Amino acid sequence: MTGLRPPPLDRIPSTLSCLADYESLARERLDDGAWAHVAGAAADGLTAQRNREAFDRLTVRPRILRDVAGGATAVTLLGRRLAHPVLLAPIAYQRLFHPDGERATAMAAEAVDAVMVVSTLASETLEAIAQAGGAGQRWFQLYWQGDRAATLALCERAQAAGCEALVLTVDSPVTAFRNDLRRAGFRLPDGVSAANLPDGRMPPPGGAGRHPVFDGAMAAAPRWADVAWLCGAQPLPVLVKGVLHPDDAAEAVALGCAGVVVSNHGGRTLDGTPASIEALPAVAAGVAGRGAVLLDGGVRRGTDILKARALGADAVLIGRPATMALAAAGALGVAHAVKLLVEELAVAMALCGLASLDDAGPELLG
Ligand code: FNR
Repeated sequence: MTGLRPPPLDRIPSTLSCLADYESLARERLDDGAWAHVAGAAADGLTAQRNREAFDRLTVRPRILRDVAGGATAVTLLGRRLAHPVLLAPIAYQRLFHPDGERATAMAAEAVDAVMVVSTLASETLEAIAQAGGAGQRWFQLYWQGDRAATLALCERAQAAGCEALVLTVDSPVTAFRNDLRRAGFRLPDGVSAANLPDGRMPPPGGAGRHPVFDGAMAAAPRWADVAWLCGAQPLPVLVKGVLHPDDAAEAVALGCAGVVVSNHGGRTLDGTPASIEALPAVAAGVAGRGAVLLDGGVRRGTDILKARALGADAVLIGRPATMALAAAGALGVAHAVKLLVEELAVAMALCGLASLDDAGPELLG
């Protein structure tokens, strides 16, 4: 593990009051490469910026003088009641950011009742993460492993390690243009690899001698038929992550998926897409109540969660903020970041006259 300069904090400074405050703490602790990896985005960063700007353009219109006694931030997701709608997004190679890597995130997730989505590119084994995460709820983010047999074997291992749902990420079958990573000279340090994959990495693409994109990486990417197969080949519910088009959302639930994640990968893959909050209403309409709708990309405030709920999301995931909190203060930081966000959500609900997130509809915006 390299990349950390001062060691992670072992207590949270009292001045740290919102997710953005973690940024400067993380910046101090990461070298230029690890920082570019977490903070950066594809190409010109237009999508990453838009994810935030689109949230900021929306306004919530409070209703006053309402009785919110007995209120709660709880939601129902995939048939389970959760204390709040904040999930920890799948983040690759967390040992880049903290020596305890995914184990720290799993501990934090258990402490604050957050579902942790474990990446296919986790730098700790699924079994070690399960042990650290105890009774916490974990899902597994799946990258297609080139063929069905290898993919199924990985899913079975995740299920055996206690993961309760699969999140199939489909928006990054080819490597994006990460100009910032090139400029920072980023490479994975020795000792950080994909601990659950053979040789510590994704299967090499085939198609030698032909076009490296169309016949190489894309030849190893899943298709709709594979999604349908995955839903039937194993017992866990499947969500497709990286959905921005309503027709794709409709196709996913028609093929048996339990839901979709509206996401542009935090602007880290294709630059120039709509913000995920902009894509949400149409995607939710495509799902039409037939599955869960989750959203990530730019969620930083309790009011962002309200905005997402108002436009049709059941729950949200946070990526960079949790990763920066991990870099700054390990499990303590991640738990604190989730707690801050959930506290902001409760205050925003109360100020909007909402006792339940089930009552956050489009009329909340205006
Ligand atoms: C990611 N993301 C990601 N997504 C995924 O499906 N599998 C993965 O392994 C990773 N790895 C990863 C690493 C790092 C450092 C970041 C910042 C992001 C994308 C992530 O799950 C999520 O979609 C975005 O991070 C959400 O946007 P915000 O919250 O970062 O704005």
